[in-house]
Amino acid sequence: MAPSSDIVDTRTTQQAQGSATILSVGTANPPNCLIQADLPDLLFKVMNGEHLVDLKQKFKYICEKSMIRKRHTLLSEEYLKENPKILDPTVPSLDLRNDMLVVEVPKLGEQAAIKAIKEWGQPKSNITHLIFCTNSCVDMPGADYQLLKLLGLNPCVQRFMMFQQGCHAGGTVLRLAKDLAENNKGARVLVVCCEIQAMAFRGLKNASIDYVISQTLFGDGAGAVIVGSNPDLTNEVPLFEIVSASQTILPDSEGTIGGRLSESGLKLYLSRTVPDLISKNLETVLEKAFSPLGINDWNSIFWIVHPGGRAILDQVELKLGLKEEKLRASRHVLSEYGNMSNVTVLFIIDEMRKKSLEDSVATTGEGLDWGVLFGFGPGITVETLVLHSFPATKPSTIATK
Ligand SMILES: CC(C)(COP(=O)(O)OP(=O)(O)OC[C@H]1O[C@@H](n2cnc3c(N)ncnc32)[C@H](O)[C@@H]1OP(=O)(O)O)[C@@H](O)C(=O)NCCC(=O)NCCS
Repeated sequence: MAPSSDIVDTRTTQQAQGSATILSVGTANPPNCLIQADLPDLLFKVMNGEHLVDLKQKFKYICEKSMIRKRHTLLSEEYLKENPKILDPTVPSLDLRNDMLVVEVPKLGEQAAIKAIKEWGQPKSNITHLIFCTNSCVDMPGADYQLLKLLGLNPCVQRFMMFQQGCHAGGTVLRLAKDLAENNKGARVLVVCCEIQAMAFRGLKNASIDYVISQTLFGDGAGAVIVGSNPDLTNEVPLFEIVSASQTILPDSEGTIGGRLSESGLKLYLSRTVPDLISKNLETVLEKAFSPLGINDWNSIFWIVHPGGRAILDQVELKLGLKEEKLRASRHVLSEYGNMSNVTVLFIIDEMRKKSLEDSVATTGEGLDWGVLFGFGPGITVETLVLHSFPATKPSTIATK
């Protein structure tokens, strides 16, 4: 039976007419800043590991190879001294870590959200939906609920909490925000990703090369965006239209990226095949995303790529024949903040639009019209967003770099 015209009319009035658009961005980091070059000496001293000469040498080597200049962290030397259980992987420390993180994750998320709301310039009562994403802790009610309270949002805001999604989820949250914004007329979705890596931090006992890789890559941060369809151009400044969004799992990639929560925190595993697996499959993903637009020159678009590690960016650049400047924004964020998991692509969006303004180019996408955003994470799962830029204009509330 065909739906009655009343139902069709109701559905039509419920839906927005335009594509979802990113309307503002905010970012935040904890104040402790680690300079990567100082890290081997600092960490091995704090952890009484100066006698582990070979391990320290390997740590130093990977730090140099990472192309990360600095990272931010909530964990301080004092905290580690007061909570030595965190350094011993043979002793349960899940409660200790989680109890601290369920308080700190919503607070850091709040800092990013406040900036995104300020830049957006609209009353927070206009927020209709909230998505919160973190791998850092688990709680009921979750960080979405805590953030709603911290920000004083309306209790009827429609919340979505995403736990343990991994690094690709910077794309997942935008895909979900697109569906929400396009299917609910007038919706304004606050999206917040926050990662504090204390759940995966480890001491030196039984440390191997896997330990070295995971402890040299990750950093703490939070990113927030407001997403909505049909921007009110008298009050809102659109940054990027989300034209399409899709998720896929790469062939033969099972078991190469993952993490498991244990009594001693989050145990991460990253296979050394990851950069090759991602880069060799990306052209197929791109062709599928861009064929409806007739685009097949990957140097003609702007790039926002989750920088899981330097080798991933290098391999993507090489295999797709990208010009050096294409991954500039992604490399810059990796260098200045490390891999902040799902948060990282939100920082790259921020970096790209700010640099575009600073360079006085025509659009928010480094002067180009079309672009791609990639998230990579456990599975290996790939999130692919096709973005369309807008003229680069400065909202009254943002500071340029
Ligand atoms: C970590 C990284 C910066 C090191 O740079 P690199 O150019 O690969 O360095 P090298 O090739 O000289 O390798 C250094 C050592 O680390 C080892 N190694 C590299 N990646 C590894 C991994 N994922 N697990 C274990 N060992 C690894 C290499 O085998 C090598 O060991 P060896 O000296 O005993 O042979 C780089 O491998 C990288 O960016 N990896 C991607 C990280 C990742 O998967 N992130 C996904 C998260 S979403």
